[in-house]
Amino acid sequence: MVSYDPLDSSVTSHPYPHYAALRDMARVAWIESLEGYAISKWDDVLDVLSNGKVFSSAQFWPVLLGEYDPVPEVQPMISLDPPHHIRIRKLANAAFVPGRIKHLDSQIRDIANELIDDIISKHGTSGEFDFVWEFSALFPVTVVADILGVDLEKRVSFKHWVDDLLSAGNRAAYGPERLAVIQKSSEDIRAYFEKLYEDRLASPKDDMISGFIKAEADGQKLSKEEVLNLAILLLIGGVETTTNLLGITFAHMRSMPEVLDEVRADYSKIPSMIEEMLRFDGPVQMLFRHTTKEVELAGTKIPKGALVLPLLGSANHDEEMFEDSESFKLDRNPKKIMSFGQGPHFCLGSYLSRMEAKLALEVLLDRFTVLESVSDDVEWMDSYFARGPKSLPVKFETS
Ligand code: HEM
Repeated sequence: MVSYDPLDSSVTSHPYPHYAALRDMARVAWIESLEGYAISKWDDVLDVLSNGKVFSSAQFWPVLLGEYDPVPEVQPMISLDPPHHIRIRKLANAAFVPGRIKHLDSQIRDIANELIDDIISKHGTSGEFDFVWEFSALFPVTVVADILGVDLEKRVSFKHWVDDLLSAGNRAAYGPERLAVIQKSSEDIRAYFEKLYEDRLASPKDDMISGFIKAEADGQKLSKEEVLNLAILLLIGGVETTTNLLGITFAHMRSMPEVLDEVRADYSKIPSMIEEMLRFDGPVQMLFRHTTKEVELAGTKIPKGALVLPLLGSANHDEEMFEDSESFKLDRNPKKIMSFGQGPHFCLGSYLSRMEAKLALEVLLDRFTVLESVSDDVEWMDSYFARGPKSLPVKFETS
């Protein structure tokens, strides 16, 4: 019997041994607590994600957010199947192609430098600060907020709202107090974006929200709810994930200082470090799909209408795909990783997030001669879907 209970926080804080047992003993495993089939091998995860007809995304958002969905009237693109998915994807994709993103380079560097200036003015030229709350949670939210056109003063609220919404995935394990906090965050995020929508409708600016309000997809304007949903999806998709990638990176560097030294000596190794970190411990651990008909996967029959959970974190550790898969190797340069998904819903922001992570690391290493997590004990987020440290106290020295 394989013990993998995604609702058990000791499992979610160290999921990899559990994934290994699944791959070894039950590559398609029924998970009682989530009432779904966990898929742990690379090839099977690839099959599921590539076949949107049989493995539908339509229930993705309802499963993740349940009654805490801030915009339940319409589904966001991540929860739409073709052909409806294509309509919004085309429109949003146009805003995220490398040609539109590349020129943000110096703006993104400035954001990282300004955050570090704030840290130094608050804490001095050496000491301790919380890497998550004072850098990694603020950096991508500022980048995405700039792009979307949202209020920078609300940055910290965004992090709370998004954390709470993502933790709704664990709602079955929570009591009324925690659920009330999630409910409040869901209402607050909706109220914020409704107000922003109304403001931009009345006086458009040169930002993405105004662009979405103006845009037409297949000759039709997006409805107000579609715009709200898209903005919230970009915030959830674009903020938490990149925040967590940076947090995960520095959480692990404590146990592998030689990697950081190597990268410090040669910045051209930063992209290899990011790619291997995405594989080794990625910010998105699993996705959600539902079968549209009975299907057989790796010898297991899955009934129609069943919840299927492709474990991206497990696929990334599949020993048939990656030699010595449980080790971090700076020079691995994996050709393929599962961290951004596969198939029609492949991450829209993969280029932006890699670019953000690279620029952030360059600026951090330039400005800090020492930047180390102070403890071996990392408190991981309360989610089996998203992975990242809740907070990360670090000691620092400036150059
Ligand atoms: C390290 C950072 C990131 C990771 C690990 C990540 C991961 C993922 C994954 C696994 C999916 C696939 C979902 C599925 O198949 O159901 C996805 C989709 C998506 N991501 Fe990301 N993401 C990251 C950064 C971003 C950024 C920066 C943005 C935008 C600002 C973004 C926007 C989206 C959107 C809109 C989708 C839905 C695409 C669709 O449904 O067609 N992501 N992401």
